[in-house]
Amino acid sequence: MTTHHHHHHDDTGMAELLDLDAEVLTEYFATLADWLAPHTGAVHRIADLGAGTGTGTTLLATVCPRAMVVAVDSSPDMLARLRIRAGDRGVTDRVETVVADLDEPWPELGSPDLVWMANSLHHCADPDRVMAQVRAALRPGGLFVVTEMAEPMRYLRDDAPAQAPGLEGRVLAAVGHRARREVPELGADFGPRFTAAGFDLLDERHFTITATPSAPQGRYAQIALSRYREWLDGSLAPDDLRVLDDLLGDGPEALAHRDDLEVRGGRTGWLLRRP
Ligand SMILES: C[S@@+](CC[C@H](N)C(=O)[O-])C[C@H]1O[C@@H](n2cnc3c(N)ncnc32)[C@H](O)[C@@H]1O
Repeated sequence: MTTHHHHHHDDTGMAELLDLDAEVLTEYFATLADWLAPHTGAVHRIADLGAGTGTGTTLLATVCPRAMVVAVDSSPDMLARLRIRAGDRGVTDRVETVVADLDEPWPELGSPDLVWMANSLHHCADPDRVMAQVRAALRPGGLFVVTEMAEPMRYLRDDAPAQAPGLEGRVLAAVGHRARREVPELGADFGPRFTAAGFDLLDERHFTITATPSAPQGRYAQIALSRYREWLDGSLAPDDLRVLDDLLGDGPEALAHRDDLEVRGGRTGWLLRRP
């Protein structure tokens, strides 16, 4: 069986998409910063697990202006981008990167005050074991902050494109089967599992994501929908597939040229404390 996290054939698209998150989902990241701010007074050491290109790492380094952040990811390419981002934000001296697979024995994290996992817990083979490992790694009283997809990201208006209204819903349905098989923990209800792992639940929040139109939206949608296209299970009607390919191409219908995009989604955030 294919396990998602051992196959990084499309790391580049994923990495560019993660980088663009910070540019397109600016309101969401600002909301996250506000959510965390009341809890970060005593935070000096942070671990960002499954850090990707570092949108979380640099957010945390900014919200906690004296903290050290150790960013862990199994992908050296992601961490190379993360170091560039840290340099751009002027926080290189407070960011350390560690290549490690969270499904294997963990590197020493140095008793962090805060562990952050954004959209990475569902990638782990055994999230309950990861929760237990985070609990053991945190200093007592330390925080564990997790965000996960609540609803899949959407990019097209429901009435668009005109030749195939509702196309995106049908694409998501066709992608869903494979996602449920290959990423079974995506969208899981982790709340009770955190409690079972010995965390106090301080807050559980649903974040509604809406993006104001911004220059990179077309590119963002193009990468994301081409990733959806790779996951199609063969059930998308040929007419829909043709329209989708026009959106992903470089003709007049292409996403980059459209003004009917509506980037939106939802995430769940859990704010947990090790007693
Ligand atoms: C969807 S990305 C999220 C990245 C980042 N946290 C963010 O919010 O932008 C998931 C990340 O988890 C990493 N990852 C997946 N499985 C992993 C594992 N077993 N060990 C370490 N990292 C892993 C991937 O390489 C990828 O960078």
